[in-house]
Amino acid sequence: MTAGKDGGGEVPDKTAKAPTVAELFDSGNESESPSDDDDDGGGLEDFIRGLVGLKLGSRGEDGQGEDDLVDTSQPLLSSFDLVGVAEYIRREKCENVIVLAGAGISVSAGIPDFRSPGSGLYSKLQQYGLPHPEAIFEMGFFRNNPEPFYTLAQELFPGDRYQPTTAHYFIKLLHEKGILLRCFTQNIDSLETQAGLPREKLVAAHGNFDSATCIDTGKKVPIDEVERAIFSDDFGWKQLKHKHGGLVKPDIVFFGEQLPHQFFKLAEEDFPKCDLLIVMGTSLVVQPFASLIGRVSQMTPRLLINREKVGTYSKRRVGYSSPGMAQYGFRFDKSNYRDALFLGDCDDGCAALSRSLGWEEDLNALAVAGRAR
Ligand code: OAD
Repeated sequence: MTAGKDGGGEVPDKTAKAPTVAELFDSGNESESPSDDDDDGGGLEDFIRGLVGLKLGSRGEDGQGEDDLVDTSQPLLSSFDLVGVAEYIRREKCENVIVLAGAGISVSAGIPDFRSPGSGLYSKLQQYGLPHPEAIFEMGFFRNNPEPFYTLAQELFPGDRYQPTTAHYFIKLLHEKGILLRCFTQNIDSLETQAGLPREKLVAAHGNFDSATCIDTGKKVPIDEVERAIFSDDFGWKQLKHKHGGLVKPDIVFFGEQLPHQFFKLAEEDFPKCDLLIVMGTSLVVQPFASLIGRVSQMTPRLLINREKVGTYSKRRVGYSSPGMAQYGFRFDKSNYRDALFLGDCDDGCAALSRSLGWEEDLNALAVAGRAR
């Protein structure tokens, strides 16, 4: 997983020997503002894809090679909003919807996101004395100083105190309706499965607390041992280290680590089939996850439900916030022909989309049943 020192740019995983993507992109002048200009794409982005070693395929393999053939003069949606998306789902009889989820879908459950100024986790880590907030999830830092992560893990460890949100139940509803191909989530809270989504429908791109590994020996460690260590008052990680012959870490993906094999495999398989992409509650600044929005065909509509516009198309080669956004970012400008936007809370967006689809009662029923469990 890669992300910038400031949460904005990207850093390649440790296998890359070339200059980091952050070095390439942290040169200032960051801009996410959409542009009306067409972009001729190519060069630098392809270079970066190669550099980072993403097995996400080249343009020709994933539908993006259609670029030159796509008629973008005809809008794919009757309107670039939830009503337009609902109408499209009905008209096209969608059956391969992919959801890309981030921390924003769990905020109403009481779990802070990472980067929202003031309320996000990264603005609340002063007590740990970190060199920069993301250090808490960096392998290099963890090896030298695991204590901050183990302390924070007391808040992050999933448990009964957090309940799935309307947005989680909406993802489950898409599955119940038989149209969810997959949910790729960056979240480590496992609330998607807690809402009843079958495990095979979920790709936990940044891992979760289901399992743990000794990072020095590579051996698996029972997660209940790790849970006890996390909640122990007495440097539990030290006892674990002593017992297992090295530092133990829950299998959440740290910066500098490779994402699970399943992520790359299913990204290859799923995205060419996708007939609607729904992106919810993410800043789209962490790679390679963010670049998934460019993996669908140019003829696949995309919906962003978020409090702010993210992942927008930009013509600029240097300084744009995320590689991959330059060419494949959302186009919420006059060049738009397929990108719908709901600016607001995920729960509200999901409820409104359900209403437009006539699924409001189904969504409520799922939430009521889930909360009663
Ligand atoms: P971020 O915190 O970067 O972004 C959350 C996005 O959701 C922001 O754009 C918010 O404006 C938006 N948001 C917050 N609350 C919302 C709500 N109720 N409804 C709608 N939108 C809302 O979180 P991610 O993009 O998920 O890595 O972060 C990606 C990765 O960075 C995480 O997986 C994490 C972090 O380092 C690990 O945990 C290992």
